[in-house]
Amino acid sequence: MEFATRAIHFRQPTDPLTGAVTPPIYQTTTFEQVAPGEHRGFDYSRTNNPTRQRLEAVLADLEHGAHAAVFASGLAAEHAVLLAHLTPGTSIVVPHDLYGGTWRLLHKVFAPLGCRITRADFSDLDALGAAIDGTTRLVWLESPTNPRLQVYDIRAIAGLAHARRALVVVDNTFATPCFQQPLDLGADLVVHSVTKYLAGHSDVIQGAAIARDPAVFDQVKFLQNALGGVPSAFDCWLTLRGLKTLDLRMERHAGNARRIAETLAGHPRVRRVYYPGLATHPGHDIAAAQMTGFGGMVAFELEGTAAEASRFAASRRLFALAESLGSVRALISVPGLMTHASIPADVRRSMGLPETLIRLSPGIEHPRDLVADLVEGLDALTPTAAGRAHAACVGRAHAAC
Ligand SMILES: Cc1ncc(COP(=O)(O)O)c(C=O)c1O
Repeated sequence: MEFATRAIHFRQPTDPLTGAVTPPIYQTTTFEQVAPGEHRGFDYSRTNNPTRQRLEAVLADLEHGAHAAVFASGLAAEHAVLLAHLTPGTSIVVPHDLYGGTWRLLHKVFAPLGCRITRADFSDLDALGAAIDGTTRLVWLESPTNPRLQVYDIRAIAGLAHARRALVVVDNTFATPCFQQPLDLGADLVVHSVTKYLAGHSDVIQGAAIARDPAVFDQVKFLQNALGGVPSAFDCWLTLRGLKTLDLRMERHAGNARRIAETLAGHPRVRRVYYPGLATHPGHDIAAAQMTGFGGMVAFELEGTAAEASRFAASRRLFALAESLGSVRALISVPGLMTHASIPADVRRSMGLPETLIRLSPGIEHPRDLVADLVEGLDALTPTAAGRAHAACVGRAHAAC
């Protein structure tokens, strides 16, 4: 069955008791036992819950995995994966471009516990190979990355890491399983901020970890219960509902992102556009080979000052200035001041993350409205010399017609 069909039908049959076509929410903390310690598969909802179990089965299926565990946030899922595989004296290798919360978790929680965090350029496989040593347990990447939409060759990286006995974790939040299945490309674990496209409506905070091999997954599952960072049954139900339209939503998100990226690329107030679907993107060929769509996110560097970037981001009518992404509603952010602010300024600069970088998460609104909103804001900025020349040139072209 195809992705769009599985997202609706897999493990979601009509309720045999009532005929309800939508599976019910098991909104309960505990379950009556037949005899002490003897139950029907569920004893307490932190440990397991039928609605959560259903969501985990669906996520495992959509990611082509065998096991999934969902958590109360993406960072809670990351925490469990890191704790399951890192011990004092071991190390993790990450790329320069990384979600700020992951950076904070690694440097402020795991580094003080005695874990080493090594940064490497994941587009240079020799450099990455050299960064993985005998202490490396995990090679961790996002692809596309947050916020600069860098794309890395997951299959090649998995080959490199496995030859050195390290596991590969891919944060698949930006691509979603609709466009990319990292486990098929050789990754050992996939993590998600379910909060984003999977739930999709800016109303659920949730995370997930998915794997095929029980040897890689079992400790993560143990920690789900032992640490207790689990989502409510209602939130799991909302995600199941969101997943049913993931395929449709991603198609529109990606179409909107492309239209926006192409428009921005031709605007004089835009210094650089980051979108893997543009042929000029350095990771375009890799993205075309390992993804079935280029995703719904776009980032760009404004030709102007940090103050102008902030003013632009705060003044859009349709793009809400807000953290997060992957919602039906368009969102805009300035990562250096928002989602990645927990990274010290000098490190941010070394990551290539200026405060003129703007991240866009187009919703599923009509592309014409989103493009118009952005162009209006860019045109309203004081024109630069280049912009004035461009406007004059466009003016002459119009006069000529
Ligand atoms: C790529 C990525 N991974 C993980 C997270 C963390 O997820 P959550 O906010 O659900 O904890 C985020 C949040 O923005 C993210 O963008």
